[in-house]
Amino acid sequence: MNKLYLWGIIITAVMLAATYISVSMSEGGLNNDIVNMLAITGAVALVIITVFVVIKYVRQMQVDSATGELTEDNWDGIGEYLNDVPTGWAVTFLLLMVWGMWYMTVGYPVQSYSQIGEYNEDTAAHNAKFAAQYKDITGDRLVEMGESVFLAECKVCHGISADGIDGKAANLNKRIDAIAVKHAIEYGSNNQLLGFMMPMPDRNGLMNANAGYAPITDAEIDTVSAYVANGMTGDGADIFAGTCAMCHGADGTGVESMGPNIKKFDIALVTNVLNYGKKGGIGAMPKFERLNAKQKEAVGAYITSLSE
Ligand code: HEC
Ligand code: HEC
Repeated sequence: MNKLYLWGIIITAVMLAATYISVSMSEGGLNNDIVNMLAITGAVALVIITVFVVIKYVRQMQVDSATGELTEDNWDGIGEYLNDVPTGWAVTFLLLMVWGMWYMTVGYPVQSYSQIGEYNEDTAAHNAKFAAQYKDITGDRLVEMGESVFLAECKVCHGISADGIDGKAANLNKRIDAIAVKHAIEYGSNNQLLGFMMPMPDRNGLMNANAGYAPITDAEIDTVSAYVANGMTGDGADIFAGTCAMCHGADGTGVESMGPNIKKFDIALVTNVLNYGKKGGIGAMPKFERLNAKQKEAVGAYITSLSE
């Protein structure tokens, strides 16, 4: 008998023995459960078929020699036979391409149920309902709604009384403090506070018209920062007029599409901070995509009311 068959019988015996041992050691062991018996019969059949199919091909590799016409190309003496593509393969290949196109266009990925999709639809429907229900509230009611949003979403950083918890976040009881103004002047600001990209230049880009377009000095920065932080009072009015007013307005309340209101909070500014987040002299504030438009308006009204 060929040595290969001997090996085949040995391997089959070893694998069957291993199957038998592992099954009888497992919980429940070998019993007469019909599913169990079927599974074991299947395993035995698989082992035998695998071993003998492998033997058949190994034999073929040992004894067969290839025949047929070679293609013209050969690579270092290694050639390729001119065989037709087996019909079954060709048909399967074409069907697969058709199926692939179906799958990508009308099949699973596009048409199927998606959890994220359902969540988005539900959220949109709920927001529409919310907007309709609260569309007319204004004034004190709006501020109250804003306070409840604030207590739910913002107090973790800004503190229950919105004082910024000792400088961890901005103190919202006043528009801005000197540290934040100084930071904006020295490093510029690029937070889409106007609702679109319109950065403020850093100190190298700021020229004081009153001083013959000279760059702003450290002393001037300190003075004008204190002036802005004090609500546009005290020393520094001339520096502000010469360096800042063209973009922020003579009274600091902002110029349309040029500079934001730095004297008072307003709903537009808070909404933009919530839409885009903010990085500044104090730290980073995340954006709040989960709030809907009315909630942003309300919390904007609440924050505006704090410093009035
Ligand atoms: C060329 C126009 C321009 C000039 C001049 C300018 N700013 Fe600004 N400033 C802006 C713009 C635009 C923004 C908003 C940038 C952003 O989106 O972050 C801004 C933002 C700020 C902020 C940040 C506000 C906040 O809520 O954090 C402060 C503070 C500020 N400016 C103060 C000043 C002062 C003080 C001066 C004068 C020394 C000045 N700016 C000069 C355009 C200007
Ligand atoms: C993870 C902490 C955190 C949370 C939560 C947070 N903020 Fe802030 N917020 C900050 C920080 C830090 C700053 C200061 C950013 C800076 O350096 O200018 C800030 C600044 C602000 C400013 C000042 C923007 C300006 O231009 O001066 C407003 C307004 C504001 N937050 C509103 C809110 C509102 C409304 C919420 C809740 C919906 C909220 N924040 C939630 C951390 C937070």
